[in-house]
Amino acid sequence: MHQVAPTPAAFKSVGALSGRVRVPGDKSISHRSLMLSALAVGESRVEGLLEGEDVLATAAAMRAMGADIKRGDDGCWTVQGVGVGALLQPAQALDMGNSGTSTRLLMGLVASHPISATFVGDASLSKRPMNRVIEPLSQIGAEFSASPGGRLPLMLRGICPAVPIEYRLPVASAQVKSAVLLAGLNTPGITRVIEPVPTRDHSERMLRGFGADLMVEQEADGTRIIALRGEAELRPQQIVVPGDPSSAGFPTVAALIVPGSDVVIENVGLNPTRAGLYEVLRQMGADITYLDQREVGGEPVADLRVRASTLKGIEVPPDVAPSMIDEFPILFVAAALAEGRTVTRGLEELRVKESDRLSAMAEGLRAIGARVEETEDGLIIDGTGGEPLAGGATVATHLDHRIAMSFAVAGLAARDAVTIDDMGPVQTSFPIFTDLMRSLGAELR
Ligand code: S3P
Repeated sequence: MHQVAPTPAAFKSVGALSGRVRVPGDKSISHRSLMLSALAVGESRVEGLLEGEDVLATAAAMRAMGADIKRGDDGCWTVQGVGVGALLQPAQALDMGNSGTSTRLLMGLVASHPISATFVGDASLSKRPMNRVIEPLSQIGAEFSASPGGRLPLMLRGICPAVPIEYRLPVASAQVKSAVLLAGLNTPGITRVIEPVPTRDHSERMLRGFGADLMVEQEADGTRIIALRGEAELRPQQIVVPGDPSSAGFPTVAALIVPGSDVVIENVGLNPTRAGLYEVLRQMGADITYLDQREVGGEPVADLRVRASTLKGIEVPPDVAPSMIDEFPILFVAAALAEGRTVTRGLEELRVKESDRLSAMAEGLRAIGARVEETEDGLIIDGTGGEPLAGGATVATHLDHRIAMSFAVAGLAARDAVTIDDMGPVQTSFPIFTDLMRSLGAELR
């Protein structure tokens, strides 16, 4: 699973981008579809699963705990679940690669089963904080032996029966919310998560779809209270995974900043807890039209028509952050080409993603000629007003797929090529990225 030698690549400016493309399945939904299918009794089918390294790490872990997971020749995946409460003790350490979502959600699952598991990951994942899940899962009775600072590698001893808890999220994190809810599946009684700031709700939607007894109340101030009745019985499902709006962000911004471009990106999930990037880009003046709006697998979806646009810098409201938390790197690229100043705040969580995305983006953007100030919790960017960036530099991706793809896109709007030190991490979420960008007319050396 780990990248052995780095694979550098240079992206350079080209003529207008055009064509129709389809981005791979949503990563968050793909993880959850495998986990819940593995806990249902009987056979589920998943169509449109993202076949990236992160999701394959989840598949391998669920197999190691008893599920039978296969890819059919038609590209559909079938999962024979073991039932809630029946996960098996994995024989070896679970290798989570680069995937924070696999790690934190699976920690939730293991925590309320009578099994132990060791979680290991790559250099990036081994730096990321796990105390945010260790804390609530300790309250249900699970035991942990983690590396210093609450990091991987860590050993988790689950508890059965676990104690149902009411947990108020101290950070806006769908991963923490989901870890607690997944632990609640095999916990007697009601597990409650109180979410002061709404985050992506794929777990709630899918748990309901699988037949779990889950209630969501929304208070006047926006706080959400999610209650799940434990010792759930999940029924197998047929799942269709919509295209990933996070992945679609890269061709979207590319089409906006390369003059003359006109591109359609099909089948993009637009769940309101994920669609912040598109709203913010439209506020900046982006020409993005939602075509053929419909539902796929219980999620709103549209085809996006994106035409090159003159973007204007804005102050991004901090409350939009959870609905575009993974999209700030590519938004920063759009801002670097916009007219005037873009100010972002309230983004301290970006420092604990696959890399410290505030410093990685500030450093890389400066190297290719953008004007950027890094603050504690955001970036302030003075755009070129549509003039190309200088480019002509190599940027460090720090094992972070979204940093790699953001600078690949920046290279398309730079005078001299932008070299990415390692495109390997792109395999985690968007394996066809380079081919897809090429099919739109992008040039790669
Ligand atoms: C995810 C939640 C977000 C996001 C990550 C996927 C999920 O993480 O950044 O890429 O699938 O639940 P946080 O919960 O840490 O914000």
